[in-house]
Amino acid sequence: MLEIKDLCKSYREHNSKQIDVLSNVNLNIPGGAIVALKGISGSGKSTLLNLISGLDVVSSGQITFFNESVTSMNINQLSRFRKLNIGMIFQFFNLINDLTVYENILLPLLLTKVNKKDAHNRVMELLDNIGLAHRKDFKTNLLSGGESQRVATARALIINPRLILADEPTGNLDKDNANLILDLLIDTSRKNNSSLIIVTHNDNIINRFDKVYTLKDGTVN
Ligand SMILES: Nc1ncnc2c1ncn2[C@@H]1O[C@H](COP(=O)(O)OP(=O)(O)O)[C@@H](O)[C@H]1O
Ligand SMILES: [Mg+2]
Repeated sequence: MLEIKDLCKSYREHNSKQIDVLSNVNLNIPGGAIVALKGISGSGKSTLLNLISGLDVVSSGQITFFNESVTSMNINQLSRFRKLNIGMIFQFFNLINDLTVYENILLPLLLTKVNKKDAHNRVMELLDNIGLAHRKDFKTNLLSGGESQRVATARALIINPRLILADEPTGNLDKDNANLILDLLIDTSRKNNSSLIIVTHNDNIINRFDKVYTLKDGTVN
């Protein structure tokens, strides 16, 4: 389903030397697989998720998703690819603070052909799942970190994506809410037979994954 071959990513800031973040990543994730990605801070986990979703551009190597080459897509193809396939939970949420909780969750569906009533029902169902129905009309800048994280999760799941990329999705949550979010992510993936990649540091949840990868020195093992 997702194939990553000889992936390299380097950054070069103005007047400074090149940093090689990912030096040779090879990874094969089957459809429906639920995997964790570990690695110390700065090891390149968020960078890898950004490359998979096409939000950042690889330095070299290939990423293939259902036999389509993500690394060969132009900007229009990439945005279409993302809106149809990818549900991303960003480490720092990236919610739109001028919009309400409801509107943030609905947003990805507005880019698709889902009718209004179905869209509304799906948002309400997810609001219920994340325990935030009572915050529906709040602007998201009024939410706590944990609440924002739950809204970001609902927004990522609204399109029933074929691939969910979750960047430390339980990092701001207490134990009960962490379990709730993890259950929601795993249940949704199993139900839709979608794949799930979760960046996590939490060893207590490691047994819930089909496989655990570690990113170290620019490669994944
Ligand atoms: N746009 C960028 N320009 C330069 N360096 C970057 C950029 N994005 C990330 N980095 C660097 O790449 C490394 C990996 O970052 P990141 O992927 O965020 O790590 P992680 O998510 O594992 O903590 C860090 O050293 C970070 O400073
Ligand atoms: Mg990160």
